[in-house]
Amino acid sequence: MNNRGAGMAITGCGSAAPESILTNDHLAQMVETSDEWINTRTGMRNRHIASPRESLSQLSAIAAQKAIAMAGISARDIDLIILATSTPDDMFGSACKVQGLIGANNAVAFDLTAACSGFLFALVTASQFISTGVYQNVLVIGADVLSRWVDWSDRTSCILFGDGAGAAVCQGVTDNRLLSFGMYSDGSQNDSLNLNYRSNEKPLLDDITVQQGAYNSITMNGREVYRFAVAKVPEAISKALFQANLTADDIDWLLLHQANQRIMDAVAKRLKIPQSKILTNIAEYGNTSAASIPLALDAAVRDGRVKPGDTIAASGFGAGLTWGAAIFQWS
Ligand code: ACO
Repeated sequence: MNNRGAGMAITGCGSAAPESILTNDHLAQMVETSDEWINTRTGMRNRHIASPRESLSQLSAIAAQKAIAMAGISARDIDLIILATSTPDDMFGSACKVQGLIGANNAVAFDLTAACSGFLFALVTASQFISTGVYQNVLVIGADVLSRWVDWSDRTSCILFGDGAGAAVCQGVTDNRLLSFGMYSDGSQNDSLNLNYRSNEKPLLDDITVQQGAYNSITMNGREVYRFAVAKVPEAISKALFQANLTADDIDWLLLHQANQRIMDAVAKRLKIPQSKILTNIAEYGNTSAASIPLALDAAVRDGRVKPGDTIAASGFGAGLTWGAAIFQWS
């Protein structure tokens, strides 16, 4: 614990995806769909799918190690790990497992669940611990293995999701790089996207019955989620830009949750940001939920598109419903 500075900078990123690739043509062998339909409606071609030998914790640990290496620190320097996921290996949480795998022995670790907004919400949570001076080095991971929970016979949803993990090291600095943020929830639209518990009654004694069950597959009202995203994401980014005293012209990159290329294009159009500024990896990974923002960021940093000092407008949105935006400079 120390009190080095009130600002925060992302100083490293990393990502990991399973080896196995599920293509649109594969999906067309499973449900009534086609490469043409999927690609036109979503921009997706491939998604990476975890095999039974791959775990969320392992993918998270690989992404975390890459982010820590880029930041030039050691795992033992990490004070806090926040694992944003809706698909932990263990219902009690998987952050501590990741802490053990990477040897971040000095870190406290916990999970945060906010579906596809999870990485953004975790980033903001990290910034609060840093700005209060409680922690100096925070590892934020966004990871999901939604393939475990997809109904592979439902063509309206099974085409969308892939698996992966992305991580970012956030550090306390005097020159703050997180310029603004906003987070939002609307529980009245909770029914639009769910991964619900299915309860089975189990009588224990004459007058005591408990529920023992499992989880249903993902259910989604695609059109509602689409409408919600296209309305709320530009609004959230506009508010964050205003808060940061910036305009859309000041943005170098638009880094959105990779849910659908058409959603990303519509958001960019509403904000009058050229399509060339959208960071997208949706063709290769599909929607990886909490992993999608850090996966896209990591690729763009490593291939040199995102450069030090670039201003990025990021936005996550998804089940809850939840959404949020953050404006930050890459350091
Ligand atoms: N292949 C072929 N036809 C299909 C498929 C498919 N995979 N899926 C649906 N169709 C059919 C429908 O049955 C419908 O047929 P009908 O007109 O005869 O009834 C037709 O295609 C059009 O269906 P729509 O649902 O209107 O298609 P739309 O253009 O809205 O695209 C999609 C569907 C891609 C799901 C879109 O609505 C979307 O991306 N919504 C957002 C979903 C999303 O982002 N969810 C994740 C949020 S993040 C999180 O928290 C996990």
